[in-house]
Amino acid sequence: MAVQRLDEAIGDKSAMIGVVGLGYVGLPLISAFVTAGFRCLGFDVDPKKVETLKRGQSYIKHIPDETISAWVSEKQLEPTTDMDRLGEADVILICVPTPLSDSRDPDLSYVESTARAIAKTLRTGQLILLESTTYPTTTRGVLLPILQESGLEVGTDFFLAYSPEREDPGNPDYSAAGIPKVVGGIDAESSRLAEALYGQAIVQVIPVASPEIAEACKILENTYRAVNIALVNELKILFDRLGIDIWDVVDAAKTKPFGFQAFYPGPGLGGHCIPIDPFYLTWLARKAGLTTRFIELAGEVNSRMPEYVVSRLAEFLNDEGKPIKGSQIAILGMAYKKDVDDPRESPSFELLELLSSRGGVMSYNDPHIPELPQMRHWDVPEMSSSALTEEYLSAQDCVLIATDHSAYDYDFIVRHSRLVIDTRNATKNVTGGREKTRKA
Ligand SMILES: NC(=O)c1ccc[n+]([C@@H]2O[C@H](COP(=O)([O-])OP(=O)(O)OC[C@H]3O[C@@H](n4cnc5c(N)ncnc54)[C@H](O)[C@@H]3O)[C@@H](O)[C@H]2O)c1
Repeated sequence: MAVQRLDEAIGDKSAMIGVVGLGYVGLPLISAFVTAGFRCLGFDVDPKKVETLKRGQSYIKHIPDETISAWVSEKQLEPTTDMDRLGEADVILICVPTPLSDSRDPDLSYVESTARAIAKTLRTGQLILLESTTYPTTTRGVLLPILQESGLEVGTDFFLAYSPEREDPGNPDYSAAGIPKVVGGIDAESSRLAEALYGQAIVQVIPVASPEIAEACKILENTYRAVNIALVNELKILFDRLGIDIWDVVDAAKTKPFGFQAFYPGPGLGGHCIPIDPFYLTWLARKAGLTTRFIELAGEVNSRMPEYVVSRLAEFLNDEGKPIKGSQIAILGMAYKKDVDDPRESPSFELLELLSSRGGVMSYNDPHIPELPQMRHWDVPEMSSSALTEEYLSAQDCVLIATDHSAYDYDFIVRHSRLVIDTRNATKNVTGGREKTRKA
């Protein structure tokens, strides 16, 4: 009976979708479901986020204020901090953080506390979906036992599946609704319901045989990126030494129509996924008495990149007869990748700290980050983004491009700077003043 009601509610889109965690993943998912015609209840423990949404304002760059205010005024989204209302949702999507602890072990405390909150109001006919990135076995081994404390049975009373979010923030070609969704249910009924639900809002649903396959699939995707980025970062250091431009090499290699995918070097890894998720696997392997040497090595190579960039910058300044100490150095781009306002794990913060500790007189510009936020791992000075004027650029001994935002006019930057160090090949199309640019 409960299944039949849920089936109908998914079919006629009257199902209430509860989204727990209204961040970079939760809000785009709400967008997909609201656009498909569902109503959403948005849950977050951060009252500031909930109040901001209630006022019709956004805190995520690619979702405009007007969109949020339309959702709220049309009652397509009701944001709340009241977890006791989880029972009102027919479907609950969990999109809470899954960071690493200080000892680099998975920190599942957010998933666990969300599971406990859901278990408190769990009722028959609810479909629970975990979207947060995590190690294989989390859905069955961590989430399910907590939900079962409610006394309800999975597969008959409530339903449970894992479906990883593959959001690519800042990529205008792919919204949450346009990215195929891998889905693995705990049992056949959970899989069927989860597929039916996503099928209503997402372009393509790819069913897999278990939540473990879906969990492992997401972590494989992210580990694949981490390892391949490490490979080109390592080759960059070698090719720099040999006077070969790594970006030219990758551009040539990617003309091969099969068997090669282009990855690009940079000043280090950033964001909430690639620097973190592979270490979920490392932890899992350790528990199984195995090692994941590729992952460890990739982490080692990638995490050394900021040091490498600073050593190159020191050489280039030295060529101009200047030490880092006392030099005016501007970092362009504090976000971890182009066109986003997300500073999490961004290597720019390490660059800032390394250069400051060597006596650099530091400032920055980022059109998407007007003030530097406090960060867990870095001692961040209070600083706001400097206006990118001719005077500002020409006053710098060195301008370090750390993030290749599209908003930058690279011709203007090179024209007015004395020395530009480019970690992203962002100045590749600049014609005038190339003698002032260096790659690092
Ligand atoms: N950002 C990305 O590009 C991306 C892409 C794919 C997958 N993921 C994964 O998705 C998950 C969420 O990432 P995100 O980037 O959206 O994080 P986020 O920090 O932007 O958002 C998470 C939200 O969850 C809220 N929250 C924390 N604990 C809560 C609780 N107990 N109840 C309700 N709300 C709670 C936080 O206040 C925050 O607003 C992570 O597992 C991440 O690895 C992220």
